[in-house]
Amino acid sequence: MTTTRVLTGITTSGTPHLGNYVGAVRPTVRASRLANTENFYFLADYHALIKTSGDPARVQRSTLEIAATWLACGLDPEKVTFYRQSDIPEIPELTWLLTCVCGKGLLNRAHAYKASVDKNTAAGDEPDHGVTAGLFMYPVLMAADILMFNAHQVPVGRDQIQHIEMARDIASSFNHLYGEHFTLPEAAIEDNVATLPGLDGRKMSKSYDNTIPLFVPRDQLKKLIMGILTDSRAPGEPKDTEGSALFQLYQAFASAEETVRFAQAYADGIAWGEAKQLLFERLDQEIAPMRAVYDELIQDPARIEKALQRGADKARAIATPFTARLRHAVGLRPLQAVDGDKTAKAHKAAAPSFKQYREKDGQFYFKLLDAQGKLLLQSSAFASPRDAGVCIKTLQTAPSTLPSEAVLAEGVSDGELREALQHFAQDLG
Ligand code: TRP
Repeated sequence: MTTTRVLTGITTSGTPHLGNYVGAVRPTVRASRLANTENFYFLADYHALIKTSGDPARVQRSTLEIAATWLACGLDPEKVTFYRQSDIPEIPELTWLLTCVCGKGLLNRAHAYKASVDKNTAAGDEPDHGVTAGLFMYPVLMAADILMFNAHQVPVGRDQIQHIEMARDIASSFNHLYGEHFTLPEAAIEDNVATLPGLDGRKMSKSYDNTIPLFVPRDQLKKLIMGILTDSRAPGEPKDTEGSALFQLYQAFASAEETVRFAQAYADGIAWGEAKQLLFERLDQEIAPMRAVYDELIQDPARIEKALQRGADKARAIATPFTARLRHAVGLRPLQAVDGDKTAKAHKAAAPSFKQYREKDGQFYFKLLDAQGKLLLQSSAFASPRDAGVCIKTLQTAPSTLPSEAVLAEGVSDGELREALQHFAQDLG
């Protein structure tokens, strides 16, 4: 069974709110318990400097709060690799290697950068007014986060899809120049998690200042919930669940049956005050046990620090040797080191090879060529590069069974194919 590497980062620039919990923390903690996945979660504090520069206390406080939140919500640091980006010095190092293969034009097209330029232009300012090089380079740093651990899947919000595509582009450029070092990552978009409304009914977001912090004390949680915007219908009047922020919040925490009962209460004309009381109790029922752990953790930053250091050790056990390999690949080597390039190239030329590619139809394919470049096998379409990769692995490890997705090229004998595949079986052994 192959394992899927899942990686995601959380920018440490704020205090976690209910929207973060329902949209990111809760689904991620659940997913981290699935079998056959290897999970990497990190606190993106280098990224936080881009948004929060000039406020060091805020970066530190947010890092503490977010780490405590993930742990309090059940993330098991023994089972996953949970670390702080800035504890991995290999990440900025990789950022530079990637910077040098990344077209500037690619970065010019990043949505976040373009939005700043458009805003400046509309205001009659210089296009790059107030834009730091950090903002411009954001996608490269993010690519380094992902590529360092050869993640297959990156769970992110829709606004981050372009960044994952850029990471793929940058990885392809590097692979093309220096050999197949990086896995091409894919965005994993969770479609059935709710987007929570905030106090004013708009999407709960820091930028609207309408959030309910996840771990405020119980009495403050109650006060905030009592302040959620409702319409002016009197007690006894039936209420609409459609478009009711109160109802959506309830639904995000309650079971299906509880939600049906709550909808019935709306139809029966429950008073808003009473509905808010029910929402408060339901939220607090889920949050209270985690809040107790959170409060304890926040009082003991050294304990969190220790967990993060253990996470950094685990992450660096991968990052350090991988970076050494990448340094060598680009030519940053001890002077007495033997140039492996020529021998590697000669070896490559004399060996059969798998080539993976994407067609105009958007699907993924591979073919197998013999040492002279003759086509031996052609695959059918795969939905993802990962699926194609799995099929290649099967061929390499179990060369005697031809998967249905791979077809022998015309005029190629079974013997020829077996001989070519034998080469990979030996390599793996
Ligand atoms: N840019 C992401 C966000 O704002 C955070 C992030 C940084 C990230 N590095 C990452 C997410 C790597 C996934 C993978 O949400």
